[in-house]
Amino acid sequence: MDELADRAASIVASNMRHAVGRRGRFLLTLSGGNTPRPAYQRLTDESLVGSLPWDQTLIYLGDERMVPCDHPESNYRMACECLLDHVQIPPWNVHRVETEFTANEAARLYDEDLRRLTSDTGRVIPRFDLILLGLGPDAHTASLFPAIPVLDNQKDLAAPVELPDSSEGASRAQQRVTMTYKVINAARRIVFLVAGDDKAEALQRVEEGDPSAPAGRVKPTDGDVQWLVVN
Ligand code: 6PG
Repeated sequence: MDELADRAASIVASNMRHAVGRRGRFLLTLSGGNTPRPAYQRLTDESLVGSLPWDQTLIYLGDERMVPCDHPESNYRMACECLLDHVQIPPWNVHRVETEFTANEAARLYDEDLRRLTSDTGRVIPRFDLILLGLGPDAHTASLFPAIPVLDNQKDLAAPVELPDSSEGASRAQQRVTMTYKVINAARRIVFLVAGDDKAEALQRVEEGDPSAPAGRVKPTDGDVQWLVVN
């Protein structure tokens, strides 16, 4: 786990410096789940934190549960506790899903927020410098779960998700908002952070190109994917 955290933190740091050097800003999407926590904490180490251009970094979340911001299952809360509360990032650089609204409305607002990123670029879809993602034992990533309609959403950048009762995660927050493949697959770089023996089967399905594995459909059109995996 330590090794995964070190490598992930170092990838974030180097991509941040590179993007800010080249384009004046770094567009970063954080993953939820437990695996990235130590990596986020690593980024707050004294040796690193002061040397990174957090003020030129814009943060988004790949998905969110429709729970209040201070809820134990809120990805925003996790990101704040492990990372954002400990770095010098202007609050307006942090873009969360507004879970105060209904899932439909929150997704619409998040979609609009993502589209604003393109206003000065002439693009239609924002191009994130780095998107961090996780992998669930059922091969879901972000809140792109197997066999749900959002997998085929080619219109929106963010969309509401209602987990069917049988889904993994259904016992937690049933309703979520997720980034869609449309924005994920437009990224420059995607890094999956995967830990745990329970991910072996999902990893194999992705490797074999199983079309029912949502994580396997993460295929950037002009970017690269890296897998950081520990047992
Ligand atoms: C979430 C994530 C989800 C997660 C995977 C892996 O909010 O839970 O968006 O896609 O990344 O389920 O979670 P772990 O890192 O906890 O294994």
